[in-house]
Amino acid sequence: MQKMQKKNIVVLTGAGISAESGLGTFRDNNGLWEKHRVEDVATPEAFERNPELVYRFYNERRKQLFSDIEPNPAHYALAKLEQALGERFLLVTQNVDNLHERAGSKRILHMHGELLSAFCCYSEKRFVLTGDIDVNSRCECCTPAQPVRPDIVWFGEMPYHMESISKALQQADVFISIGTSGNVYPAAGFVREANFYGAQTIELNLEPSENGTDFQAAEYGKAGEVVPRFVDNLIAELN
Ligand code: APR
Repeated sequence: MQKMQKKNIVVLTGAGISAESGLGTFRDNNGLWEKHRVEDVATPEAFERNPELVYRFYNERRKQLFSDIEPNPAHYALAKLEQALGERFLLVTQNVDNLHERAGSKRILHMHGELLSAFCCYSEKRFVLTGDIDVNSRCECCTPAQPVRPDIVWFGEMPYHMESISKALQQADVFISIGTSGNVYPAAGFVREANFYGAQTIELNLEPSENGTDFQAAEYGKAGEVVPRFVDNLIAELN
């Protein structure tokens, strides 16, 4: 086998990649996320106003991950691409589910946090969370013990790993965006950053996204069908 060409690839994923696994996206259903307005469950103000609802909402989302939800072929294809590229590959996801990890992805940054993580509101120390938390839950890191919250980046909060992501985009030869509506910044701005630094930019989505015209190429269809085919072609091209 020939040595794979040296290409740095950054992939951004959004809710669309998990849709065929049975997880609801954010902007379908008339802008409701699992029957809730985003402003009622995904802002610091919502958490202050009605913490019970916000805890319950994320408890339910977390519980879903332990139901019959499974990674789909698009998740597995990205794990395969990572195996082929090693440290030249970086997966940046806006998703808070664990389906990429369950498909085998390791070089992954969750820029909007993770359902299976929580943090202490006082020390900001993180811990793995598989069960429920509520207003009475307390940390184990402080004395006296302090309240904890879901490790989710809400609207108005700073996404995680921005420095590493920016560095990867500067060095990227290819930037691929999958299953995201291009509505939410800073992720929606990554394509322009990648274009600016000379990367080839490609969108794989069900339909043209808000910033679809910023991409140099696009393929439309279900992620579970489009992504495995695209990845196989890419690996063949790189070999
Ligand atoms: N295959 C590919 N794309 C799909 C599929 C599918 N099977 N189903 C839906 N899509 C596309 C939709 O067409 C849409 O463009 O996925 C996109 C999902 O968009 P959003 O629901 O807006 O999700 P996302 O872009 O990930 O949202 C970004 O917003 O609410 C916040 O923090 C939250 O991370 C989230 C961020």
